[in-house]
Amino acid sequence: MAAEARRARQGMPCPYGMDVRESMNTVGELKSRFRAKYGEEPVVYRAPGRVNLIGEHTDYNDGFVFPAAIDLFTYVAIAPRTDRVIRVHSENFGEDLDFALDGTPENVPAGWARYVLGVALILERQGHALKGANLLIRGEVPIGAGVSSSAAVEVAAGYSLLANSGFRLEGRTLARICQRAENEVVGTRSGIMDQLASACGVAGRALLVDCRSLEFRALPLPAGIRLVICNTMVKRELAASAYNTRRAECEEGVRVLVQRYPEIRALRDATMEQLESCRVEMPGNVFRRCRHVISENARVLEAAQALEQGRLSDLRRAMAESHRSLRDDYEVSCAELDLLVERANREPGVHGARMTGAGFGGCTINLVEAEAVQAFRDHVASGYEQRMRVKPDIYVCSAADGVKQID
Ligand code: GLA
Repeated sequence: MAAEARRARQGMPCPYGMDVRESMNTVGELKSRFRAKYGEEPVVYRAPGRVNLIGEHTDYNDGFVFPAAIDLFTYVAIAPRTDRVIRVHSENFGEDLDFALDGTPENVPAGWARYVLGVALILERQGHALKGANLLIRGEVPIGAGVSSSAAVEVAAGYSLLANSGFRLEGRTLARICQRAENEVVGTRSGIMDQLASACGVAGRALLVDCRSLEFRALPLPAGIRLVICNTMVKRELAASAYNTRRAECEEGVRVLVQRYPEIRALRDATMEQLESCRVEMPGNVFRRCRHVISENARVLEAAQALEQGRLSDLRRAMAESHRSLRDDYEVSCAELDLLVERANREPGVHGARMTGAGFGGCTINLVEAEAVQAFRDHVASGYEQRMRVKPDIYVCSAADGVKQID
């Protein structure tokens, strides 16, 4: 990212012209690096990270989520090859990788490359015969911070490999393919939210998604509100296994509910009354996980309606309840996230604050009025640093378009 644009993002909101200039600089720079490395002219694509306004741990329960794509991107510069080899260079890791499309899947190494090659493998398995390609990848989505750097890489890679081979898929289909790559090749049992937001995002809007049908509505965010994302800088070692445990607990809850209510297919279908009636038949932790999911689904719909009708205090309340439920019932928050939310709620011009993403560290999302952003940054950052002895990174973002070609 150009230094000027980076300063602007971390400080005051970017005026629109700044973003355009930043993209043009990035494209020019990526193209010249690509020419230097591969000796040919590439096409450049970018896919965004995402932030979720509300609806956490509901996607894999067939429920509702309300994410926005954000203007932090993964860029892919790509040009075709005459053989069936995918050659990838990662600028972030300074690493190169060669991968034969006709080779065996066991060749896929661990790390960043698995996201790229996982998507290529699933595309091939689904009958999209890909051309070989040279790729250069640059990611500006913070890694491991809970704003979906992995989905951005998957979606940027999938879209560019398809385009390079003369194909184009509908956003939801591409999102499903990227999710399969993550589930089957990378080995994380993530839901569909991140890939869907990165593939289908709409500038200035958040997506109210039904994760069962994948239907969504893009609802406008109020013009003066910025998406301020605060990074605890905490990465929990066991986050992936704790995520999978939560999924298993939800499945256990469904197995109990189904015995009494055979029409229930997922927690999305259960009511609070039905859950209460099964309380004694399930362990306490399973009951609480289910209570979070059922109440969170209702909160997503309430929050989206509140946003549409301009009832910002109701939106704020729903986000606060979501955080409490994730902390107490789902048990995926931590002291650092709780502190950031508590500090944010003391600031003027804040229309909602909560943890976002899977939890166990990572980031909070704060809906902040543009004029209040600078003071918010200063106060929240200094309060957090005093207590936690670490400076939080703060990203001031806008809702962005999903994956696209940018030159
Ligand atoms: C991660 C997963 C998503 C979703 C969130 C929690 O970001 O990748 O699918 O489950 O956690 O809402």
